[in-house]
Amino acid sequence: MQRPSWAPGDIDLERPGIARVYDYWLGGAHHFAADRAAAEKTLEAMPGLRGVVLNHRAFLRRAVRYLLGQGVRQFLDLGSGIPTVGNVHEIAQHADPGARVVHVDVDPVAVAHSRSLLDGNARVSVLQADVRDFGSVLSSPEVDKQLDFDEPVAVLMIALLHFVSDDEDPWGVVGGYRDRLAPGSFLAVSHAGYEGDEETASSREARRIYDARVAPMTLRGRVELTSLFAGFSLVEPGVVRVPAWHPESPDDLAEAGKRFPGFAALGRKA
Ligand SMILES: C[S@@+](CC[C@H](N)C(=O)[O-])C[C@H]1O[C@@H](n2cnc3c(N)ncnc32)[C@H](O)[C@@H]1O
Repeated sequence: MQRPSWAPGDIDLERPGIARVYDYWLGGAHHFAADRAAAEKTLEAMPGLRGVVLNHRAFLRRAVRYLLGQGVRQFLDLGSGIPTVGNVHEIAQHADPGARVVHVDVDPVAVAHSRSLLDGNARVSVLQADVRDFGSVLSSPEVDKQLDFDEPVAVLMIALLHFVSDDEDPWGVVGGYRDRLAPGSFLAVSHAGYEGDEETASSREARRIYDARVAPMTLRGRVELTSLFAGFSLVEPGVVRVPAWHPESPDDLAEAGKRFPGFAALGRKA
């Protein structure tokens, strides 16, 4: 297959990637045939998936605007993905051009595209790293350049932690970042998950395809997501369905009532 000019030379075009499949669902332009095939197959099993993904994106926007309202001007965006319209630095710098952002992702396409888009934006850095290795992320030159940990920083983990299994200790990963944060800092998380036995057959089938072709996911419900906020006080309304976190429209609440397959929350470090 022909390699597009924006694709880094060292990636396997035949293997679907989380960031590129997500970009396809979001309506972006940075994916390959293998990504599109996996994305379409999953959508066939669960046609509502695109709406799910768009709701996580909408939460990201609401959370960043909330954080700006709290005076936060520094953002560590972990698992930042491929920047399509309305990503963290756009929202933050629209509100305050002095806002600083570090985007971190493991996917080379996400990183290459972020770098080309952000070239010349001195207050945004892009780091290619595995977010589970919080020591390397926190000691990187990119983080050092942009973030002052004596001041509040918002750590964003949007649609990320379901890619960190229990064996990979997501509590320890979150704790590694939390321990570096000054009081008044925040953590924002959105996560795939259900309560009890409410997962539908179509979701189970979509997950089976996604796990096999893209990446294994660990679903977590309200209780598990709450446990990830140890050391933070949850901002009202606590851990809720993604569209129900500070909803902006009746549509958000209608979605939330449909047993939306994911939860979100924002916590403040005391
Ligand atoms: C579902 S996408 C969400 C992207 C973005 N946060 C958003 O809300 O649009 C998850 C992203 O996390 C990245 N990711 C998954 N596991 C990661 C890891 N261990 N380290 C760094 N990035 C990771 C993927 O490459 C992907 O870009």
